Amino acid sequence: MITSSNLDINTILEILEEQVLKSVGRRLSEAEIVVIKGSWDGKDYKEMASDGGYNSYYLQQKVAPPLWNMLSQVIGNGVKVKKIYLKNILFKLAKNDYVEKLEFSEGENERLVGKTLIYGELPKTKYFHGREKEIKYLKQRIASSKETSIALIGVGGVGKSSLVSKLIEEVLTDNCDIYECVVWKRIEACSSLEELVNGLIKVLRLKINDESLQRKITFLLKTLQSRPHLLVLDGLEGLVQAENFEKRVEYGKFLFQLADEQDKSYTIVTSQLPLEEIIEVNTTLLISSIKIQGLDENAGMSMLHDKGLYGESCKKLVETYRGNPSELEVVAERINRFWGGDVEKFFEYKTTLMGQQLQSMLNQQFRQAGLLNDIQKNIMIYLAEETSEEITSISFPKLLEYIKKNIDVSTSEVIIALEVLEQRSLIEVNKKTIKQEISYSLQPVIRKYILVDPLGLVYKTSNRPKSNNYNQE
Ligand SMILES: Nc1ncnc2c1ncn2[C@@H]1O[C@H](COP(=O)(O)OP(=O)(O)OP(=O)(O)O)[C@@H](O)[C@H]1O
Ligand SMILES: [Mg+2]
Repeated sequence: MITSSNLDINTILEILEEQVLKSVGRRLSEAEIVVIKGSWDGKDYKEMASDGGYNSYYLQQKVAPPLWNMLSQVIGNGVKVKKIYLKNILFKLAKNDYVEKLEFSEGENERLVGKTLIYGELPKTKYFHGREKEIKYLKQRIASSKETSIALIGVGGVGKSSLVSKLIEEVLTDNCDIYECVVWKRIEACSSLEELVNGLIKVLRLKINDESLQRKITFLLKTLQSRPHLLVLDGLEGLVQAENFEKRVEYGKFLFQLADEQDKSYTIVTSQLPLEEIIEVNTTLLISSIKIQGLDENAGMSMLHDKGLYGESCKKLVETYRGNPSELEVVAERINRFWGGDVEKFFEYKTTLMGQQLQSMLNQQFRQAGLLNDIQKNIMIYLAEETSEEITSISFPKLLEYIKKNIDVSTSEVIIALEVLEQRSLIEVNKKTIKQEISYSLQPVIRKYILVDPLGLVYKTSNRPKSNNYNQE
């Protein structure tokens, strides 16, 4: 609890500085701090001057009067701030700030790392493996002054959110004062842009009485422009479920402004779908996207070792599940439970297990009208049915011939469909050399999803009869 005896002037000065910066956009000068500290200690201007190495006339006549005026505006709350009242007013200010923070931290998950306030629930991975290259690369991108935003795109469960969380931890370990605030916001299908903006205004404790969304956004952007913040918008694909075109346009404009108008702050977006497919505004010029793939062999192996699985076959597990950590978690858990941790035995059963995160992503893609068109669905089904353990990929000419025979489409439409599927990591492209003919394949989990069609979403809308290829599993 705050009392006048345990409150020191340096703590108060931090709170005051924050308020002054928010309200008038500048820091307190050294001379102003001397006057405030001196007044807190009940000193007269002569004593303050000799303590701080100033001329007392300068402090009393030039520094103090505008300082009291400014403080009256910022913290006066209707009372004119004067030297004799200052201690009382500052004491109240600290008390309010304490109560506000207390209430806030209970509701919103707030903590302090160095001087940086962190809001929101950052995912915590107990044993984090690999990703050194990605983290090094992202650190460089964040530090570069050329851009203000980046999007991490990848399939469900590939580790986007965990990677950003780890990145933040490392950035703050390198320099805990680099950001004033880190704000992590999960984007839900139901959250409107106004809710997001209000949430940000609340966590950044901005004081704005204006009700109009546009003014709030302008105010928010100004803050992000003038002081360094790191903003994470996690799971942008959630907006697609909303099927609300206007909402997606609004978000798109907001992201565009964020990317365009921030100087000091940085925004990281994570999404299963490429941004241009979600937000209906072409942000690609301003927000560059990077694709997040699964863990590499070493990281995947060490993750499996952590879960008690050993031996050369672990390499095959990492390869089969494309290093997707959420898939590896599920598979490792089942191998331990059903096969006593024997990976080779598990492979004898020739089954592919499916984790929940990738499956819910596939459910969304196949369920949501407009996300996968007929050509894309047919390509995926054809690849699933035509590939096997022996024939892992299909050449482009063969695929093109088949699709054109079955649906009335042009070659360029098929190419576009293939490119979209590739961007979403739904199909894999195999082309080792420039001269090699391009061919396509599916990762085993996606192949199984299509053939098993667990929710009946794949074949229902694809005008093709369901195959029986996967009955053996
Ligand atoms: N580098 C890693 N080392 C160990 N475990 C990891 C790593 N990355 C992710 N995981 C684990 O994998 C799971 C999926 O990670 P995460 O939720 O970050 O994926 P995502 O790409 O954000 O998925 P979604 O698109 O569904 O949000 C989590 O349980 C996480 O703990
Ligand atoms: Mg995520």
